[in-house]
Amino acid sequence: MATVELRNVTKLFGHDVKAVDNVNITINDKEFVVLVGPSGCGKTTTLRMIAGLEDISSGEIFIDGDLVNDISPKDRDIAMVFQNYALYPHMTVYDNMAFGLKIRKYPKQEIQTRVNEAAQILHIEELLDRKPKALSGGQRQRVAVGRAIVRKPKAFLFDEPLSNLDAKLRVQMRAEISALHTRLQATMIYVTHDQVEAMTMGDKIVVLKDGLMQQIGSPLELYNKPINRFVAAFIGSPPMNIMSARIIEKQGKILVDEGDFQITLEGPIADKLKSYVDKEVLFGIRPEDLVYTETPQKDNNIKTHVEVVEPLGAEIHLYVSTQNHQLIVRVQPRYEFHVGDEANFIPEMDKLQFFDIDTEDVIK
Ligand SMILES: Nc1ncnc2c1ncn2[C@@H]1O[C@H](COP(=O)(O)OP(=O)(O)OP(=O)(O)O)[C@@H](O)[C@H]1O
Ligand SMILES: [Mg+2]
Repeated sequence: MATVELRNVTKLFGHDVKAVDNVNITINDKEFVVLVGPSGCGKTTTLRMIAGLEDISSGEIFIDGDLVNDISPKDRDIAMVFQNYALYPHMTVYDNMAFGLKIRKYPKQEIQTRVNEAAQILHIEELLDRKPKALSGGQRQRVAVGRAIVRKPKAFLFDEPLSNLDAKLRVQMRAEISALHTRLQATMIYVTHDQVEAMTMGDKIVVLKDGLMQQIGSPLELYNKPINRFVAAFIGSPPMNIMSARIIEKQGKILVDEGDFQITLEGPIADKLKSYVDKEVLFGIRPEDLVYTETPQKDNNIKTHVEVVEPLGAEIHLYVSTQNHQLIVRVQPRYEFHVGDEANFIPEMDKLQFFDIDTEDVIK
């Protein structure tokens, strides 16, 4: 298996479309790295450059320490699974999986062993004689993965392989790909625009926006310590509540003033915000970090009105509003809520996040 390293990699389409902008990523051996970001942020382009299907405008890509900028795709020993699976419709499942080995002139016996082994791992042994049109979406997806497995490549690249599947199958295949990663002990680079996939599958997540790398980290690092507003809002579902607010000083204390409610800050966060007194900031709090209180509290109380109630069984999502902002809150199902009710919340003080209103970077 292999390490993959991107150094200052940039891709320009024509003169002005900078699809990937000076990206630096180190992918360790056997690591599962997820590239995530909204449509058009450069995920596919990055993957295609690693595979060698797209030239690099500037920068360097190393596979296992070797510079591969000028190495052709077939000599990079990397397998890519595409969003549309790209199976050959006139070939059986067996032949689809064997094809890459045949053109590389592997002995027949070896091909047979590898295809059968992959079919067993993916539970598609009974489908080997079928053509792709006689398969469900999930089965096709498995064949596409099987075709990659038989090659025993140095690294696997996946480009949104689950996006054509329905929600339930997607969850199942997500777990299967994670299990496959454990079983094969392979380096995998996985592209998705779905932050839940990123959070559940990645050892390491790379968040991209407009071709620019925003943050690299473990799922929990990104969730708990987002580097800027974009990452804070992109990772997590329902998303973090982010409000404009003012930092004020009252009787020697630092407060955040949303207009409708005020929260007194203590300790390190108060110190960090001293230089923002009388300035606007962005103030963030996740839906689960607003704690419901049956009776309004004297300090730090956020009074809201309920606008939408979404009972999900294990939890309830409430859309509530202050005078100035709409917020989403995640509450336990032991309470009952009705549209129009008053609902009061206390924030978890150590979970508050603050971002500079101009740069949108987290205030450190
Ligand atoms: N062949 C091309 N010629 C010109 N522009 C391109 C080409 N391929 C991609 N782009 C542009 O580069 C940017 C990044 O595209 P890319 O396909 O990498 O995005 P993506 O993150 O994979 O998006 P999606 O989630 O929609 O698949 C986009 O602005 C896209 O329009
Ligand atoms: Mg794409």
